[in-house]
Amino acid sequence: MSSASAPGKIILFGEHAVVYGHPALAVPVTQVQATATVAPSSRRGVWVEAPNIGLSSELSDLAPDDPLGAVIRSVFSTLGVDRPPACTIYIQSTIPVAAGLGSGAAVTVAVLRALSSFLGQPLPENQVNLLTFEIEKLHHGNPSGIDNTVVTFARPVYFVKGRPIETFRVAVPFTLIIGDTGLSSSTKGVVEDVRKAWKASPEKFEKIFASVDRIVQQARRTIETGKGSALGPLMNKNHALLQQMTVSSPELDRLVSAARSAGAEGAKLSGGGRGGNMIALVQPEMTEKVSQALYQAGAKRVLITTVS
Ligand code: MEV
Repeated sequence: MSSASAPGKIILFGEHAVVYGHPALAVPVTQVQATATVAPSSRRGVWVEAPNIGLSSELSDLAPDDPLGAVIRSVFSTLGVDRPPACTIYIQSTIPVAAGLGSGAAVTVAVLRALSSFLGQPLPENQVNLLTFEIEKLHHGNPSGIDNTVVTFARPVYFVKGRPIETFRVAVPFTLIIGDTGLSSSTKGVVEDVRKAWKASPEKFEKIFASVDRIVQQARRTIETGKGSALGPLMNKNHALLQQMTVSSPELDRLVSAARSAGAEGAKLSGGGRGGNMIALVQPEMTEKVSQALYQAGAKRVLITTVS
């Protein structure tokens, strides 16, 4: 039997602009995890059991474009396994789905690791990352690659599409509250809408992306030098730019405002937007007050994480 896990992730700064070659910062969220366990089975075939999403199926019964089926087939083809042994792949995840927390990437990474180990040929991390990127394209159409990178390496990442992975140092840990609107949102759809808007007004969007780029650079310096409180205003500015990209929503704006009014140092949406999650930077003693304010403003779930 083989088991493997992968964490969730959040984007701190730079979502959407990162699709156009600008940098972004993202960190793992280890409180939530996807886990895959592969065990030999007395049933014939390769079975997938994912009770979270009500899935119990033999591999050949999954649709050809099913991302989970694609993950499993990619392991067999990469490792040259023509006749897979009878086995069951159990998948469990505490990462909310379609919420900008990288649940799809984390499930993929966990399955790639557990299944390749079960077959006696554990895949190296770089290959896990590359294969997960290919699967992310099925989920997201035109992803930048940031989600698979953070989830695979479980490290804070300064990400620029197509460039070697750079991690960054967190000089002084800081506390974030992640507030979930409870609205599921398709990253693929939002990324496509931004592309249409960028094509319609390229100059406007290039200006927005250039401003995001400057914020990301400042945020990285701030985090690396430990001046955590300067991050709040940068988050607020990034949120305003995301609003201009039209990827916020009334629910996200309500949570962002509630967090700021309750004493957060800054807040912004995180991930694809139009639903999913927002993040707020808080001093540890303000965690309770800001969490309560988020629930009162409609948050369906609140997670507290320390970035370190
Ligand atoms: C999704 O977590 C982040 C986006 O920038 C899309 C991507 O980078 O692939 C919205």
